[in-house]
Amino acid sequence: MLQALEQLPVDPILGLSAACRADPNPDKVDLTIGIYMDDSGVCPVFEAVRRAQLELEQEEVTKAYLPPAGDEAFTSGMQRLVLGADCAALADGRVSSIQTPGGCGALRIGAEVIHAAAPGARVWVSDPTWPVHIPLIGSVGLAFESYRYYQPATHSVDFDGMVADLRQAGAGDVVLLHGCCHNPCGADLDLEQWGVIADMAEAQGFTPFIDIAYQGLADGLETDAAGLRLLVSRLPEVVIAASCSKNMGLYRERTGAAIFVCNDAANAGAVLGQAKAAARRVYSMPPAHGALLAGRILGNAELEALWRGELDTMCARINGLRGELRAALEQASGADFAFIEHERGMFSFLGLSAQQALRLREEFSVYMLDSSRINVAGVNAGNIDYVARAVAAVL
Ligand code: LMR
Repeated sequence: MLQALEQLPVDPILGLSAACRADPNPDKVDLTIGIYMDDSGVCPVFEAVRRAQLELEQEEVTKAYLPPAGDEAFTSGMQRLVLGADCAALADGRVSSIQTPGGCGALRIGAEVIHAAAPGARVWVSDPTWPVHIPLIGSVGLAFESYRYYQPATHSVDFDGMVADLRQAGAGDVVLLHGCCHNPCGADLDLEQWGVIADMAEAQGFTPFIDIAYQGLADGLETDAAGLRLLVSRLPEVVIAASCSKNMGLYRERTGAAIFVCNDAANAGAVLGQAKAAARRVYSMPPAHGALLAGRILGNAELEALWRGELDTMCARINGLRGELRAALEQASGADFAFIEHERGMFSFLGLSAQQALRLREEFSVYMLDSSRINVAGVNAGNIDYVARAVAAVL
């Protein structure tokens, strides 16, 4: 039976990251996968996570299953973190949440619940979007439409195009939005633009589905959630996929939450039941370790303050790197890279062709996606000039 299967092409992100790992060139630079790396090229463990882990090790008495909705301290902490402690929908009891295996699990459970409610719903995705959105959500059985989002010529959001396309989204449709730090382009909506999307959702009746995998990596935890919170304050229903992979560095612990803002408390209960049933049929119970750590951090004022400080430092470093990379690229090439400084989060499109990205890999062992998406956080003091010279050489 299995003999009938064909070899699939490698994953466009994980495949290039693996190719870089296998490259023997000591000067190689991995700008592929979205992982924060410090100046020595290591993806560090947050000190707050380390402390929570020590506490957990001393106090943990069981490895029995978590319930399908996960750890309560974690899900309630995530609700406050994402929605804000003063969120009216929270006070009204019309929010339900389920712990998931990473932000991907949250996207999947969100899609499963949407499909249960409206199997014919169309999901509007930005052009471009994170490539994994399509198989992750599409394999539930939902159909896609796309809306214009990024203008390569200006390296910025094509908001007029976005609005024109989303005029066709109506009641029963879902619009997938990146909460902040757009992956792959790094170009975000401003608050006024989020307000226009809220107006449209109100008038046209579509449901926002917000992927917020990078809260805290653009301009801080509260600012990064401002657009999402605006939508939640104005709309009866919002579906959210949140992740602790990047902002707590819990990548391999698969720590995420699907959050459903519902019309009323009774509906929030029904939605939670649907989410738990979806979890049961897909993976049964979520993994515990990362959520128990995050739940401890979010439930302990001292640990939370330590973590927020570490995250702010990380965010400031990424934004500083954006300026340094812009300067290095401009000096090496004479071209304009100002856009890198205006974008937010880990990613930027350098504006190179797939052919140029290939040359960078083959001639310089500088690895970026074929779309020329780079992980800005993969740049450091030791490789920045090398990267800039390599890019200049293929321009
Ligand atoms: C990325 O876009 O590089 C990250 O979100 C990691 C992944 O799973 O693709």
